[in-house]
Amino acid sequence: MRRVVVAITGASGAAIGVRVVERLAATQIAVHLVLSGAAERTLAHEVGATAASRLRALAHSVHAIDDVGAGIASGSFASAGMLVVPCSMHTLAAIANGLADNLIVRAADVHLKERRPLLLLARETPLHLGHLRNMVAVTEMGGIVMPPVPAFYNKPASVDEIVDHLAAKAIDLLRLWPDQLAPEWTGEAS
Ligand SMILES: Cc1cc2nc3c(=O)[nH]c(=O)nc-3n(C[C@H](O)[C@H](O)[C@H](O)COP(=O)(O)O)c2cc1C
Repeated sequence: MRRVVVAITGASGAAIGVRVVERLAATQIAVHLVLSGAAERTLAHEVGATAASRLRALAHSVHAIDDVGAGIASGSFASAGMLVVPCSMHTLAAIANGLADNLIVRAADVHLKERRPLLLLARETPLHLGHLRNMVAVTEMGGIVMPPVPAFYNKPASVDEIVDHLAAKAIDLLRLWPDQLAPEWTGEAS
């Protein structure tokens, strides 16, 4: 069974993280889930009081944020990639600078050093120069920075559809399968 690490941090957009876990859990992928302390708050505030426990039930394995001895903390643990959805500016800064003092940052650091796909759904607005520099640093190291900017060409009818599209796009960027989840743009009808 292929494994994907999913980390949720305390940026706004917790519903996107939930949707990513739901979609991966419906496949043959084993989700290794880590939540930061702040993510527990945003999940409760934005999604609901039971969101974190529902997520834990969906995952194949759940790791504590301070368990830097978990399998996903080692390069010897095979994984197909890692998503940080959403990624706070705090976690972005730590990843950009290799400050691996919790399991999320350590696992991200491992994905970068092992040259495995790492996607950060970095959420803040507006951005100061430090945020932008951290995004550049992660990109230079091989990570993918995907701010959760909605598309409007697909005419979303609800916030739920926007969340769905962003979650599908984030998963697609890991290139886990030949087909993509997000619907393809096939050109404008003339
Ligand atoms: C409701 C709520 C929304 C937040 N939204 C954001 C956000 O969009 N981006 C961000 O960088 N931080 C946001 N924060 C602040 C982070 O949670 C805070 O910086 C925290 O220390 C991040 O820690 P973590 O990276 O370990 O999750 C938010 C906090 C709360 C309570």
